[in-house]
Amino acid sequence: MEQIFVTDVAPRDGLQNQQIPVSTDAKLELIDKLVAAGVQSVETTSFVSPKAVPQMADAGELVPQVNARWPQLRSSVLVPNLKGLERAHAAGAKEIAVVLSATETMNRKNINMGLNEALEVSEKTLAAAHALGLKTRAYVAVAFECPFEGETSLDEVLRLSARMHAAGAGEIVIADTIGAASPAQVKERMNAVKKVVPLAQLAIHLHDTRGMGVANAWAALEAGVRRFDASVGGIGGCPFAPGAAGNLATEDLVLMAERSGFSTGISIDGLMDAIAFASAQLQRPLGGRSMAWLQREKAKRGGIQPE
Ligand code: HMG
Ligand code: MG
Repeated sequence: MEQIFVTDVAPRDGLQNQQIPVSTDAKLELIDKLVAAGVQSVETTSFVSPKAVPQMADAGELVPQVNARWPQLRSSVLVPNLKGLERAHAAGAKEIAVVLSATETMNRKNINMGLNEALEVSEKTLAAAHALGLKTRAYVAVAFECPFEGETSLDEVLRLSARMHAAGAGEIVIADTIGAASPAQVKERMNAVKKVVPLAQLAIHLHDTRGMGVANAWAALEAGVRRFDASVGGIGGCPFAPGAAGNLATEDLVLMAERSGFSTGISIDGLMDAIAFASAQLQRPLGGRSMAWLQREKAKRGGIQPE
């Protein structure tokens, strides 16, 4: 079976916008459950302004503990600028992700820089990270639609993806920040991006606002993409992008991929343990589109009464 590579972004994208504070210990326990489920790559946290995103204020304490407990885990952290890189490096981060949006307004709302400055800062941050021996990813956010400027120009997405590739980003992550893409558009755009970024370095990051997350992931698979971001339980969303709902749920992606002949190395039962834990922490039911069915199946096997 052909493999797909999943980065679970729940500890960062999933938690960054939650109202209920989540402790460092609870974040570690969530990561523990993801690792137990077979997840091999996690976006652990972000080194951003704690005033802008209070949930990520403990990044400096979290990263050394993650490194100590799971030395084999691929663990990346989001950094918006050189200050973020400096903090991430001091904490022992091994891989960083810069975040560049494909429109002027989204960059301003997210990281308080215009597009040109955000591009320059991303390139400088990547160069500095490489000089420190760190691995890198680069997000190209609002790659389909921007909540402020409408449909994003494909040419701009291609230009920025090529710039991030030229800057040495190990992985370029095309992001549907507000979950507005359609499968046909995903196929068209990923087919275009793969001409400027080799498939081995191309990833997609989907949000599932309109119920099209899994269909969009399938469209990306058909375009040859094998690297996916997803968030266990479907939690997530950028606080600075109005209308951004949860990420594509890891369990939905794994179910779709495994049933379509791809292997992920991830156990859905293990993911369900992680979801139950996150649900207790956030005090609300969680889960992707397949959750009701998954719970019924589990109840049949385990004799557990469905809720
Ligand atoms: P700013 O206010 O323009 O920054 O914020 P500044 O350079 O003027 O500095 C202001 C203060 O922040 C200073 O401190 C700096 O030292 C400090 P003061 O002198 O006032 O005490 N500062 C920092 N502190 C900690 N970490 C840093 C840092 N940088 C400066 N890295 C800034 C600019 C980028 C910091 C701010 O706008 C910010 O933190 N934004 C947060 C952005 C964010 O986390 N967004 C969500 C993640 S992106 C996302 O979710 C999309 C994604 O999932 C893909 C998708 O779905 O599309 C990735
Ligand atoms: Mg996101």
